[in-house]
Parts: sequence; C-alpha cells; structure tokens
Amino acid sequence: MVKHTGENYYISTAIAYASGKPHIGNTYEIVLADSIARFRRMQGYQVYFQTGTDEHGQKIENKAEEKGCTPQQYVDDVAAEIHRIWDLMNTSYDKFIRTTDAYHVRQVQKIFKKFYEQGDIYKGHYEGWYCTPCESFWTDSQLVDGKCPDCGRPVTRAKEEAYFFRMSKYAPRLIEYINEHPEFIQPVSRKNEMMNNFLLPGLQDLCVSRTSFKWGIPVDFDDKHVVYVWLDALANYITGLGYDADGNSSEEYKKFWPADLHLVGKDIIRFHTIYWPIFLMALGEPLPKQVFGHPWLIQADGKMSKSKGNVIYADDLVSLFGVDAVRYFVLHEMPFENDGVISWELMVERLNSDLANTLGNLVNRTISMSNKYFGGIVENRNADEPVDDDLKAVVTATAGRVEEKMKGLHVADSITEIFALFKRCNKYIDETMPWALAKDEAKKDRLATVLYNLAESITIGASLLEPYMPETTERILSQLNTKKRDYADADKFGLYESGTKVTDKPEILFARQDLKDVMEKVEEIRAKQKGASGEAASAESGKADDASAKAGEEKQEIHIEPKDEITYDDFAKMQFAVGEVLECREVPKSKKLLVSQIKFGDQTRQIVSGIKKWYKPEEMVGKKVMCLINLKPAKLAGLESQGMILAAEDSEGNVTLMTPEKDMPSGAGIS
Ligand code: MSP
Repeated sequence: MVKHTGENYYISTAIAYASGKPHIGNTYEIVLADSIARFRRMQGYQVYFQTGTDEHGQKIENKAEEKGCTPQQYVDDVAAEIHRIWDLMNTSYDKFIRTTDAYHVRQVQKIFKKFYEQGDIYKGHYEGWYCTPCESFWTDSQLVDGKCPDCGRPVTRAKEEAYFFRMSKYAPRLIEYINEHPEFIQPVSRKNEMMNNFLLPGLQDLCVSRTSFKWGIPVDFDDKHVVYVWLDALANYITGLGYDADGNSSEEYKKFWPADLHLVGKDIIRFHTIYWPIFLMALGEPLPKQVFGHPWLIQADGKMSKSKGNVIYADDLVSLFGVDAVRYFVLHEMPFENDGVISWELMVERLNSDLANTLGNLVNRTISMSNKYFGGIVENRNADEPVDDDLKAVVTATAGRVEEKMKGLHVADSITEIFALFKRCNKYIDETMPWALAKDEAKKDRLATVLYNLAESITIGASLLEPYMPETTERILSQLNTKKRDYADADKFGLYESGTKVTDKPEILFARQDLKDVMEKVEEIRAKQKGASGEAASAESGKADDASAKAGEEKQEIHIEPKDEITYDDFAKMQFAVGEVLECREVPKSKKLLVSQIKFGDQTRQIVSGIKKWYKPEEMVGKKVMCLINLKPAKLAGLESQGMILAAEDSEGNVTLMTPEKDMPSGAGIS
C-alpha cells in the first residue's frame, strides 16, 4: 500500500456545547473523527486532530445562575466531563480547545476588530415590529389588525443595537468557490441544500453581537456587546492552531491550515459552509478543503430526549459492552447520508453475532487449535492447496478496499470490508476442517499451514481494524504475539513470522450477552439516572439533558416568551391533521406567500402560507404536512386560506415544515 509519510492532515470535530453531558449521538462524532484520524496516521500522514468545547452563550449563563455558580465554574465542570468521555472512548485528539481559553478569547477580539476596521462589520440595530416567519420589519401603520400584513401572524416589538457582518459582499465568491470545488461540501445532497436554500436566494447580513446577556467574549472596543457565539466558536479551528490576527501565526498554523476536514453534524453544516468560509475570506485565509455533514444517531423511537427517557450516554454503554464494542456499534451502524438507528436489541445482536461470533470465535479457535495441535507454535510449512488462494486474495485485497471506502469517508463500509475478511477466515476453517486434518498424521504439515494462514489473515485484519477498535487490535495481536502490520505491507501475505508461539491462554475478546440481562441492567442505569436527577440541583439534571436539544436552543439563543396557560379543553378545540399537498403556486404580487391545495382524506382545502422564501411551489407538491384545519378561514392577499400549515422556526427565522416522521395517509388526525 502507498504510504503518505511527510504529508499533513488536519481534522476537526465540532466543538461540543458545554451546556450538559454529551449523549452517545454527540460522542459518535468524536469517535468517527478518531477513526479517520487514526486511519490517516496508519497511512503515514502527520495528523493534527482537534476537538473541544463551545462554552459561551445565554443558555450557559442561565444554567450557571440556576446552579448558583459562575458561568466559568459551570463550564469548567462540563468541559471536564466532556474531556473524560472523549478519553473514555479512547479518542486520540491532539488538541482539546475551550472557547474560554485566554488565547482564543484574545484572538476572537482581534478578529472582530479587524472585521470592523476593514468595514465588514458595521453597527446598526433591529427596530420595529418584527414578523419572524417573514423576517420582516413593519411600521405601526403597515400592520393589519396589529398583525403581519403579509401572513397575518402576530408580530413582536424588536429593538436592539447590534453589529452586523456584510455577508452579501462575499456571497458571489463563495458561490464560485463551491462550484469550483465540488468536494468542499459532503455529502453532495448537503451542498445542493446550501446553494438552493441559502446562497442563491441571497444572503442576509448576519447579526454578530449581542447585548442581551454577558457570558460571551466582550467586543473590546464596545464592551456592551459580546461576540455572537457562532463567530466565537467557528474561530476555534484556527485559534487552536495558533492563528494570530496580527500576522504572527504559529508554525503549527502554517503547517496545518487549511484544514483537510471539518467533521460536523448535519444540523450545523450551514454555519460551516457559509458563515465560516466567509469569515475566512474576510480574514484573507484559505478555506478548509472539506466540510462533511454526518447524519445523526437516533433511537428507534426518534431523537434522544430526556422527556422521552431514551437518552443514552457513552459511559453507560461502555459499562455494559466495553469501549470497542461501543465504537463498533456507532461506527458500523451509521449510514453515510441517512440517520442511523441505535437500539438495545441491535447492539446485543451485533455484539453476539459480529463481535463475539465472527471475530472473537475466529481468534479464539485459531489460537486454541494452535495450542492443541502444535503447542502454540504457528509455522508455515508451505503445504498450500488451491482452496487457500481465495482466502489470500480476499485478505490481500482488503486494505485497498478499506482505503477506497475511507477516501470517501464511508467509514461503516470500510469496517464491513474488514469483517468480510474475518468472515472469509471462518469460511476457510469450514472448508479446511482442521479438526479432521488433525486426525491424520500425514496431514500435519497441511494443518500447520492452515493455522499459519489463519494467523496471518487475522494479523492483517486486526491491523486494519486499529482505527476503529484500537484496543481490540492490541488484544488480538498480543495474543498472536506479533506487531501491527505496517500499512505498506497490509496487502502482502506471509509476513507473520513462522515459528511464533501464540499465547497459551486465549482470552475471550467479546462475551456474548443476553438481551434480557442487558435490559435489566439498562433499567438499573435508568433508575439511577432518575434518582440522580431527582436529588441533585437543577443544573445537575440539566447535565443529563439531551445535549443536542439544548444545543439547538443554545445555537440560536431562542428565548420562549411564555403565553397564557391553556386548559386541555382549549387544546382539544384545535383540530390537526396530516395533509398531502396536491398543487402549489405562488400568490401573484406577494413576496412571501404560496397557495396550496391540500388533501385531507376525502376533502381538499386551500391554504395560503408565508413560506415562499424557504420552499419552491414544485418542492411542495407531494409533501405530507401537518396542519391546523379548523382555523377560521381568512383572506390573505385576496385568497381564502382554510387552515394553517405548521412549521418550526429558529431565532434567525429559518423555517422548516412539520412533516410526519413516518409516512401517514392524508387526513390522519394529530393529537
Ligand atoms: N457547539 C456547536 C458546534 C460549534 S462548532 C464551531 C454544537 N454543539 S453540540 O454539542 O450541539 O453538537 C456537537 C456535535 O454533535 C454537532 O456536530 C452535532 O451535529 C452533533 N450531534 C448532536 N446530536 C447528535 C446525534 N444524535 N447524532 C450525531 N451527532 C449529533 O452544535
């Protein structure tokens, strides 16, 4: 295999919110990054692997207050917990950056000032009545019945002094860059999403400071303001390496920037492929070579959340199955583009069949037979037979196949290739039947050769497994009393030293487990979690929260304005149903509105909605959407609207339609 000695490779993960303990979904990302970093090291690259914590923002300020400590104390605790989990998972990062690190703070201030001085940032303010779905300001006289004249929804008063970044100035360059670098945004579906939904419709200037809370990096020339948490967080990728906005960047920075890969979840790809490249352009720095938006790890019953009681933490999984089994589950169960589902049944099934059976048994049988028949000595007596050829062909082709998959970041598939090697070995045992050969003294040489071929195949397979399951590699190779095969030789057969004595005490690599027992232990863990969150202060229970749910709030700093409480009867008055969009068109002369014909079972209704900015009419057709259908009909832009399509929106006014998680017939009721 070709080695890349002397070449550099910089990989980063998103920095995790220090708002609570990360669940297995957040932990998946660091394990994924670790497998890629380790693979590149195996290929000879000099790797720089950075991860860390994102520690500012209103959410953290509030949590600290609830807990009765300072925000700094709060993030110190959570960052230590995140650090501990990353280490528990045996991840080989080179740098763990915290956005409260003094160097980072100073550089973010310098970056902000630089943007301001060169005219990329200007001071302005929000003012007026604001309609979040329409992202529009209105004057008193423009409101209709005190509501948005375009979509008829309530508006809120907004006025805040803020700094804005001129995003639109750089948009054409970014579009050109993305078009010229098809590999920049991966998977490709995410690239289309960014282009069509954000860049091509035109970028808004971005609000990059806040005055409504204090826990952030102060703008040093205007300390009423703190820097927007995303500008602060994104800068970690360069400050962690020693970037200096005054031009005195470190040697490390010069060596490793631009990053080869920013690995991030699908939910934050926009920040990494639009805002981050634009900030870098404004700094005059090269752009990262690739941003990969990985899918999410979810539970069979959907997203992990504390209210559903289905949050899974890495340390609990490790206590049940061990580190490498957990690494295997998350890496192997994640598809390339779609979300991966994790369940207890699946984990037990994989443990028993892939790890205990396919791999564990193979190693155990090979070592036990070597002990039984040859006192542990593995010797190549060159008594090959034609049946060996296919084994050798599969084994020597595996490294190339794995490399190919890893090149495209198809990590799960690369593991499958390695397990195909182990499966081929098991088949070889069935084909050669060593126990039958052992009965015939004349076949001793053949038996020795078969066991040699197995030891050699396992050595190659175990060596290739190192990026994904490093401890298992070590345990297998030490039992075989050999070293990891150099990557350059991973496609050559016969380098296991003939005459090596393997251990006489083969250990069980993975013990089989019974689903019932596992479920009992899971119940115990859940009970303990509940107990802990009941007893502890609210901040402690916050730690057990769904980190990503909080993260979502943190990212957008949404503050929910409480409305008056309603009774169940109030709620029951509302009739929601799933509708199928049959037709959709633009409303003439309206910038915001689309009008759809929507089927609800045996009836069709016309609904007008302010979603033109986010959806094209042709995209809407065929979609199943959730609607409120007993809303009093109203006229919008002269058209009758007989209901409302439900949509979620974040604090920046991004809107996404609510659709059923699994397919449902039109007319299905929602409660
Ligand atoms: N702090 C921001 C990132 C700033 S990067 C400059 C953030 N933090 S987070 O803690 O919410 O998420 C960290 C990473 O975990 C993100 O890439 C996010 O997409 C990922 N995941 C969150 N939940 C996940 C799953 N359920 N499954 C897989 N990845 C998940 O976003």
